[in-house]
Amino acid sequence: MVSLFSKDAVMIWIPILLLILFRVAIKHHMRKSRDAQMIIWNDHVTPTTGPTELPRISGIWEVVGPVSNHNKMPRRMTIYRLPGTETPELLIHSCIACNEETMAKIQALGKPKILVIPNRFHTLDAGVWIQRFPDMAIVCPESAKLKLARKNIEPTHPMEEHLASYGISCLTVGVTNDRPMEYILSLPVFGTDDNVLVCSDTWFNIVEPFPGFGYKVMSFLGSIGPFKITKMGTLFIKDWERYADDLESIKTTENVVGILVGHGAAIAGYADSNKALLSVLSFARSKAEKKKDE
Ligand SMILES: [Fe+2]
Repeated sequence: MVSLFSKDAVMIWIPILLLILFRVAIKHHMRKSRDAQMIIWNDHVTPTTGPTELPRISGIWEVVGPVSNHNKMPRRMTIYRLPGTETPELLIHSCIACNEETMAKIQALGKPKILVIPNRFHTLDAGVWIQRFPDMAIVCPESAKLKLARKNIEPTHPMEEHLASYGISCLTVGVTNDRPMEYILSLPVFGTDDNVLVCSDTWFNIVEPFPGFGYKVMSFLGSIGPFKITKMGTLFIKDWERYADDLESIKTTENVVGILVGHGAAIAGYADSNKALLSVLSFARSKAEKKKDE
């Protein structure tokens, strides 16, 4: 009978034992990293409302929640069902990590297909979304790439071209160089000639107070109030005439039926959307006039 500890036997069972231990260690590591991912996701979850479909606009939903559990300023994620796909697929703009119940509702609307990281500031939950949905196309403006690289996030497609293949336009206002801070997306509303404009920080519309010290800070910075370019936003605008011309062009070429900003209430309907665009347009024109007089 061959002993288990004979030289020949040891040469067989030690490698087998090592292989088993290696497999156990790998499985343990994978389980730990999966758990860690879930913990990271859960760390990002804030209380949200939605997904809520926009009134009388088919195929566009919003999820609204605070920036974080410490900063109660409202932020919005826009969910858009992409046109022309056999099974429902979604564009996610300015993603928010939601609880599992809300995530299940979002996934019931369609498969997350494109993640739009709208600018270098709206990156809080991008990493956990990409971990959760690794097959999504990732797009962002050129100006956000450096910040995202620091978070090991790399866009998979050029933003303007990729979105254009779905009939989505990337509009700019007042951009005087090749690297806009963010685009205004013009989303075609299914079955109509209408468009919904979506942006993050180009315009604000915070009409309701929110709890916490942040509200006082944002009021001081001039970011609270009806639809507008914030005081901070005006610092980025060098050419007001160009800004006003671009707005005028959006107003005439796009059939705007809704405006979704990154922070604040949604604007829905032709009349309110038109009024909102007119208000920033007249502000921009008056700024342009003042600049001329200086
Ligand atoms: Fe923002």
